[in-house]
Amino acid sequence: MRLIPLLALTLVAQDKPEKLAPYYPTPETIVERMLKLGDLKAGEKMFDLGSGDGRIVIMAAQKFKADATGVEFDDSLYKQSMDKIRSLGLSATARIIHGDLLKQDYSSADLLTVYLLPMSNDKVTPILEKQLKKGARIVAHDFEFSAWKAEKIVDIDDDGEGRAHRLYLYRR
Ligand SMILES: C[S@@+](CC[C@H](N)C(=O)[O-])C[C@H]1O[C@@H](n2cnc3c(N)ncnc32)[C@H](O)[C@@H]1O
Repeated sequence: MRLIPLLALTLVAQDKPEKLAPYYPTPETIVERMLKLGDLKAGEKMFDLGSGDGRIVIMAAQKFKADATGVEFDDSLYKQSMDKIRSLGLSATARIIHGDLLKQDYSSADLLTVYLLPMSNDKVTPILEKQLKKGARIVAHDFEFSAWKAEKIVDIDDDGEGRAHRLYLYRR
């Protein structure tokens, strides 16, 4: 292979977002517990990092009346979640950014929700430490942020389907 095509291929590969967790949705009952734990209020800005089918963003906008943004790199999950937002008439207060969650600006966030793997939380940590405003809350599902001390930890022994969950609340 000649040098230029090889260079182009390398640049494309480098630009591809890193998969920070597989798609594994949070049950709706736990979504509500996360948003309540994060004390999400009407009009506040929230972001879900790796938003999957958009369920956290949708509940944040619909039930909590927040201004909600998801970030999702998977093409079909992005499309599915945007279709749902449009069909529910929530486009004014909910949206999904089709991109890499490591490359977004979270400086306006009042609340972030995160359901990623432990090593991915470690990757996100310096970005959030740099960007988040004082007082911003972070609710992490099942996996903690090892560099931070949680303000509150909530254990849910059974989500109704026999699955246990742990939620962590952090405040910057
Ligand atoms: C465990 S799922 C959580 C989905 C949703 N937040 C929920 O709790 O129902 C993690 C999501 O992160 C997405 N994801 C993984 N790496 C990503 C990246 N670098 N940028 C954007 N999304 C990413 C996956 O496609 C997947 O939808």
